[in-house]
Amino acid sequence: MRSLEECHAYVAHMNVEHREIHDKVGRVRETLEECLNNPGGNDRTAEFAAELEDLRGRLEHHFQEEELGGCLEEAVSHNPHLANAARTTVAEHGMLAAMLTQIIVNTSVAKANAELTETVAPEFDRFARFLANHEEAENRILQDAFGCSIEPGE
Ligand SMILES: [Fe+2]
Ligand SMILES: [Fe+2]
Repeated sequence: MRSLEECHAYVAHMNVEHREIHDKVGRVRETLEECLNNPGGNDRTAEFAAELEDLRGRLEHHFQEEELGGCLEEAVSHNPHLANAARTTVAEHGMLAAMLTQIIVNTSVAKANAELTETVAPEFDRFARFLANHEEAENRILQDAFGCSIEPGE
C-alpha cells in the first residue's frame, strides 16, 4: 500500500513521462512525414523504424511502471468507482503494445513509400490517437483519486 505522499510523487513522475511520450510520438510522426514527402530521395525508413523501436522500449518501461507502481491500486482502494476505468487502462497496455509491434512489422516489410502511406501512416495515426486517449483516461483516474493537477505542462 502506497502513502498519499508517494502517490503524489508518482503522479508528478507520470506527468513528466506522459509529456515525454507525447513529444516522442510527435517526433516519430514527423520522421514518418519526411519519409512520405520525400519519395525517391533519401530513404529515412530505417530511421523511422529505429524511432519506433525506441518508442516501444519507452512504452514497455512506462506500462510496467504503471502496472507495478501500486498507485492505480491505491487509487481504486479508496475510490471503488474507478475500478472499471483502471482495469480498462491496464488492459489497453497490451492492445497498444500489439498495435505498435504490428506497425514495426509492417514498416520492416514496406518496400516503397506507397506502402508506408497506405498501411503504416494510418495505422500510426490510429495508434497515436488511442495512446493519447489512454493517457488522458489515466490522468483522469489519478486526478480523481489524488486530487492533483496532472495536466501536460504543469
Ligand atoms: Fe498506461
Ligand atoms: Fe501512462
